[in-house]
Amino acid sequence: MAAKRLVVLVSGSGTNLQALLDAIAATGTEAYGAEIVAVGADRDGIEGLARAERAGLPTFVRKVKEYESREEWDAALAEAVASYEPDLVVSAGFMKIVGKEFLGRFGGRFVNTHPALLPSFPGAHGVRDALAYGARVTGCTVHFVDDGVDTGPIIAQGVVEVRDEDDESALHERIKEVERRLLVDVVGRLARNGYRIEGRKVVIQ
Ligand code: GRF
Repeated sequence: MAAKRLVVLVSGSGTNLQALLDAIAATGTEAYGAEIVAVGADRDGIEGLARAERAGLPTFVRKVKEYESREEWDAALAEAVASYEPDLVVSAGFMKIVGKEFLGRFGGRFVNTHPALLPSFPGAHGVRDALAYGARVTGCTVHFVDDGVDTGPIIAQGVVEVRDEDDESALHERIKEVERRLLVDVVGRLARNGYRIEGRKVVIQ
């Protein structure tokens, strides 16, 4: 079967993107079941884009402030992603909420990774919020994106214990180790096996 086409969206350091790149390089596109065809971002000057360029991948940037409205930005982002004809779109630390146009085109095949055990601690500060709450375990969630904030059907989760001495950065680093492995595993299984979404449940075939 042909490898599935992935577009990956980033906003930061891109270590999740790197984990996908490394896994695909190590396993081989065919055996992994997917290849990254382009990397997009909402800002420039980030390590995530530099990683893509080093890997020889096309990149694109769509900044919210360059558009008259959020809707126009969303449509432009959707158009840029669509031009690479992806089977799956992966938000790997992409710090923007997409809108109707994007979800209309990519709903059901737009995967996000979040650094907390959803439905606890959604939003931009999942690690900080879990720590402040006093949670003893937290982790990461790979899920499909719907029109809420981190509310879509859960595909897989990984658990990380909170240590007494943790600050946000130490805890986030340990979460990211689990998160990278989980994302690589989930994207590969979705690509190779196919899946269906039944209400809130994701069934990987
Ligand atoms: C990840 O923990 C992701 O869940 C969060 O931001 C981090 C991105 O890390 N939203 P990186 O850019 O992949 O290194």
